[in-house]
Formats: sequence, C-alpha cells, structure tokens
Amino acid sequence: MSEPYIKIAPSLLSADFSQLGDEIQAVAAAGADWIHVDIMDGHFVPNLTIGPAVVRSIRACTKLPFDVHLMVENPGLFIDPFVEAGADALTVHVEVPGVLDHLTQIKLRGKKVGLSLSPDTSAKTLEPYLSHIDHILVMTVHPGFGGQSFLETQIPKIKEIRHMIGSRPIAIEVDGGINPQTAPQVIEAGATILVSGHSIFTGDPAQYAHNIEILRRKKEA
Ligand code: DX5
Ligand code: ZN
Repeated sequence: MSEPYIKIAPSLLSADFSQLGDEIQAVAAAGADWIHVDIMDGHFVPNLTIGPAVVRSIRACTKLPFDVHLMVENPGLFIDPFVEAGADALTVHVEVPGVLDHLTQIKLRGKKVGLSLSPDTSAKTLEPYLSHIDHILVMTVHPGFGGQSFLETQIPKIKEIRHMIGSRPIAIEVDGGINPQTAPQVIEAGATILVSGHSIFTGDPAQYAHNIEILRRKKEA
C-alpha cells in the first residue's frame, strides 16, 4: 500500500497578527496544504481569537482551503457567518450540545465536516457521528492556546480512532504540540493532516518551507 500524503495545516494562532496577509502568503508559498484558523469564544476555552470579519479579509490572500476550528460553546451561531466569510472546512467539538445539528448545518452548506475531541474526551463519543463527517480533529493539547506541550497520552487514542474508522473515508487530523519530534509519532498512529503553529511560524519566513517539510518526515529529525 502506498504511503498516504501528509497534509500540513499551519495554525494562524502563532503567526504575526500585524502581518497576517504576508504570513499566510509565506506559508502558502512554503508548501502548506490548508490554513488552520482557530476560533475561540472565551466560553468553550479561556481565550478569544478572531471572528468572521477577519476571516473574510484574509480570504483573498490565498487559494488554499481555510480549515476553521470552532472552539466555541454554540457553533450553530457561527457556522453560516464563517461559511460566508470563506471557510472550506469547519470543525466543531463533540463536547458541545447539539453536535448532529451542527454537522448537518456544515454539510448542507457544502463544506467539509470535521469533529474534534479534547484530550479528556473518550474516542467512543465520536461513534454516533461517523457517517456524518469527513475528518476527526484529535486535540493533542488542551484547547485554548498555542505553544503547549504535546500530550503523549493521545497516541493510543489516535490508534483507537483509526481502528474505529475502519474503511470509512474519514481523515485523522491532529492539533497541538506537533513538531519534528512528535510528528512521526502521530503519523505512525494514523494521522494524515497535521496542524502546527509554533513549529512553523518561527518568525523567519525564510525557514517556513523547511519547517513544513520536516513535519512530513516519517522518522525523527
Ligand atoms: C489550540 C489550537 C491549535 C494551536 C496549535 O487550541 O487549536 O491549533 O494553535 O498550536 P501549536 O502547534 O503551537 O501547539
Ligand atoms: Zn486548532
């Protein structure tokens, strides 16, 4: 069987927000596959980020898909505004009320449907939704902030999810603490989409292509 292509999705949370357009263009030129946009509401997680107006304004900077990760208590309020702002994939958390309604809303808008789970949430909670989703976003840190340490405890969960997916066409995406040391572990466990903020946005755009390419390697750097 051929090796799966590993997609890299830089998280804008670690970009220089004073030059967001330039940062997006730099990672796009450096080989990024998706742009990961973290949306936080100060309720589901103890942090705030950006809203649809900012997403709309950066939409013109690249043709790459926008992977919008909704860390919000009530995604139903925000799915349509982010779709209209240019989101291509939207991910909601399994821990919020009304999950199936949110997944259906995303699907009806013709966008890729993602479902995420936090580190303390069991893989089994995903089971009822498997026929409704395109990807599962496994949080490998507690959601809320960039630059945290990877939680090794999530590796068995990624394997369990891969097993649970079986032959369904569902991709596994991982988010949090992904760097050249942890990337091979999550790839080995079954992830094919890697989100990374800190290890890509190091402040020097000349390094971005290297920072991205090294995450795709199967062996520890
Ligand atoms: C955390 C966010 C992540 C985060 C990843 O809640 O969902 O996308 O920005 O950043 P790093 O790669 O720095 O852990
Ligand atoms: Zn994220």
